[in-house]
Amino acid sequence: MIGSATYHGEIMKSVKTLLFALENANLGGKPGGSFSSYGWSGEAPIRIHDTMKHVLRMNMVDEPLRIQYAQLNGSEQKCRDYGDRIAKKVAGIVPRMECPFCHKTL
Ligand SMILES: Cc1cc2nc3c(=O)[nH]c(=O)nc-3n(C[C@H](O)[C@H](O)[C@H](O)COP(=O)(O)O)c2cc1C
Repeated sequence: MIGSATYHGEIMKSVKTLLFALENANLGGKPGGSFSSYGWSGEAPIRIHDTMKHVLRMNMVDEPLRIQYAQLNGSEQKCRDYGDRIAKKVAGIVPRMECPFCHKTL
């Protein structure tokens, strides 16, 4: 998960630096998502999503999580729902295994 607030229509500089650094991290096919709080236009999470999808070649949740004015009601539930969608992607990729102690399938 990578996020950045939108300032002047852009991703924050530190997050841009992170995206460049991840180019060589071999994240192809790994589950990913992007998120942001924003005021009115909210470009940052879209740019992050597109970079993760097209440059890092990650397996992205279908759309970025965009929270307009994070303090508004309903934001927390939206974040939880998005987290659930990422978790489902991870669960679909991580092979199930038997716990060596209780022998339950995890
Ligand atoms: C100087 C400044 C520029 C901003 N530019 C944008 C912008 O271009 N588009 C937008 O959607 N929000 C813009 N915002 C709003 C912020 O993205 C929003 O307040 C966000 O919630 C800030 O997140 P933070 O509180 O985590 O820093 C701007 C805010 C400030 C203070």
